[in-house]
Amino acid sequence: MSVINYSEKIPNNVNLGGDRTLQRALEQWQPNFINWWDDMGPEGSTDMDVYLRTAVSVDPQGWAQFGHVKMRDYRWGVFLNPGDQDRKIHFGDHIGEKAWQDVPGEHRANLRRIIVTQGDTEPASVEQQRHLGLTAPSMYDLRNLFQINVEEGRHLWAMVYLLHKYFGKDGREEADALLERNSGNEDNPRILQAFNEKTPDWLSFFMFTYFTDRDGKFQLCALAESAFDPLARTTKFMLTEEAHHMFVGESGVSRTIQRTVNVMNELKTDDIGKLRAAGVIDLPTIQRYINFHFSVTIDLFGADQSSNAATFYSSGLKGRYEEGKRADDHVLKGSSYKILSVEDGKLVQKEVPMLNALNEVLRDDYITDSKGGIDRWNRVIEKAGIPFKLTAPHKAFHRNIGSLSGSKVTPEGQVVTNEQWMAKVGEWLPSNEDRAFVGSLMGRVVEPGQFANWIAPPVMGINRQPVNFDYVRFN
Ligand SMILES: [Fe+2]
Ligand SMILES: [Fe+2]
Repeated sequence: MSVINYSEKIPNNVNLGGDRTLQRALEQWQPNFINWWDDMGPEGSTDMDVYLRTAVSVDPQGWAQFGHVKMRDYRWGVFLNPGDQDRKIHFGDHIGEKAWQDVPGEHRANLRRIIVTQGDTEPASVEQQRHLGLTAPSMYDLRNLFQINVEEGRHLWAMVYLLHKYFGKDGREEADALLERNSGNEDNPRILQAFNEKTPDWLSFFMFTYFTDRDGKFQLCALAESAFDPLARTTKFMLTEEAHHMFVGESGVSRTIQRTVNVMNELKTDDIGKLRAAGVIDLPTIQRYINFHFSVTIDLFGADQSSNAATFYSSGLKGRYEEGKRADDHVLKGSSYKILSVEDGKLVQKEVPMLNALNEVLRDDYITDSKGGIDRWNRVIEKAGIPFKLTAPHKAFHRNIGSLSGSKVTPEGQVVTNEQWMAKVGEWLPSNEDRAFVGSLMGRVVEPGQFANWIAPPVMGINRQPVNFDYVRFN
């Protein structure tokens, strides 16, 4: 493990200087990345100095430094967590063998696919969020948006490094293609559908960073178990940065709720019309946004039965969430798992081989984790003395992947007909009117310490700076 060399063009702790061919290939990719950032990155941000965290080490005690920088000058680097020369594969058919420092030929295509799919989501979210800076509810929030954007850029670098170093010419072509696909582009869209959706307003952004960045966390956790050691070490470090993204989402929704319940108490009303007239987002609308983002995100885990998932696991490419903490044989050949399907108009559980159900296993772990934040949001409502409870919708609600995709199921888990669905969907998912209302609240507030009317200030600033610190200098 070499120390990070910041005098190099590409900061890294992978001894890039010792591999001139690789270094040159990445230095050729770098200007294309900057061009992409200029074209597709945060709109109108070129001259701003932003108080950003930059990774400077992989030491958990002090891995980042903070300072005002221009985003296009951000030091996007390549960092891997420290390796363990004796690391063993701890699941699948190769259990007990030495972890791979290179890509075995027979797993090359699958590993490349996994890395490309993960890599594709990183720039996709930057593209989805590129207009949000124009309607930031505060300078503090603007900075957090930009922090997430530059770190998703670094996650792209992390995947591109693996492609360049381990996959030769194919890898270099895939790395180029990561800058050519664009979110929502009809001819050349991003790989996963959720990353082609718009992030049109800040409530959507906070929901996205709470729910969809958490999907990222679970995918990264599963890859951090990989037998391919460089992938495991890369994703472990990415997880360090990911935590802040989910914090932005959770605290953003929480502050939105805080402001709403404050106004509910001031006006002594739960009347939606009055609350909207007062410029805050009513709790039923927040519930509908939760229903939407939760259901779209759990689709990202893939079909509930998948032979690919079984192959990825058995061959050691992708483990389960916290694989090492589980007390089973880590091979799973005889194990089974329950998945849901609709039979005769009813939801039923079906027992299937666990290896084929590993997408469902990861989805269920995700669901447990994501419900924690909803509980914390409910505490804000409870504390204000308001009798309203937010909930996660049923797992079968609004699904578009796997065996549930053809069925209509309510947020409570009742199977309904198409007609019943159409009659009620406006109560369950954000309507055009909801979205237009939320959109109407989005005005730019960027004076230090000022906040848009629909959201409460945070309890604390970033890196122990005051809330009214000048996080962004517009020049
Ligand atoms: Fe990421
Ligand atoms: Fe993220």
